[in-house]
Amino acid sequence: MKLLITAGPTREHLDPVRFLSNRSTGKMGFAVAQAAAERGHSVTLVAGPVSLPTPAGVARVDVVSALDMLAAVEKLLPDQDALVMSAAVADWRPKCTSAHKLKKSGMNPLLELEPNPDILKTIRPSKGKRLFVGFAAETGDPLAEAQRKLVSKGLDLIVANDVTQPDAGFAVDTNRVTLLSNDEPTVVLPLQSKLDVGRTIVRWLENHFRP
Ligand code: CTP
Repeated sequence: MKLLITAGPTREHLDPVRFLSNRSTGKMGFAVAQAAAERGHSVTLVAGPVSLPTPAGVARVDVVSALDMLAAVEKLLPDQDALVMSAAVADWRPKCTSAHKLKKSGMNPLLELEPNPDILKTIRPSKGKRLFVGFAAETGDPLAEAQRKLVSKGLDLIVANDVTQPDAGFAVDTNRVTLLSNDEPTVVLPLQSKLDVGRTIVRWLENHFRP
């Protein structure tokens, strides 16, 4: 299979030194990429700004903002069999970006934002037979939110996790996730390494891919 995987946060710059972002470190997406490459799949990893080494055998494209990530995904998708969107895409960006460092004295204390596009919803018309996997990192009711996103984003599989737990979610090597799909029972996985979660996702894709 040819797999496109996104990972990490995006950064939405106000000026060359300041940005809006989130706590994603890219570990989960890099683990999916490693698991897929280990199984011999052709993997392209679109990574936001993270400090992780590229897994062996993986082609990597670095991006900064949500708009950069959308452009990379739109360009690469036609050649892919599946997309795994594990990136924590920033939903908002500053309305104005300055090419020069903003001076404290001239800064407006109110930051005006505009929405970023939803990457999954934007590319949905080009999905075709491709399998789309999303993630839902939640602090509330992970399963209800994941179910809503599975449907609203037209996904085949969504991986839900509660990021308030210290041993799951951001910046740790383990995760505790639940897999929700359209026609199959929900699968609750125990705490395990992100690499093992990645292996489960890759196995799911192998079992559902129809060339
Ligand atoms: N996602 C996306 N484009 C965005 C935001 C999110 O493609 N602009 C993708 C993520 O990569 C993930 C899925 O959508 O696979 C769910 O992301 P999440 O941040 O949990 O959901 P949101 O759509 O941002 O919804 P909310 O803010 O209501 O939780």
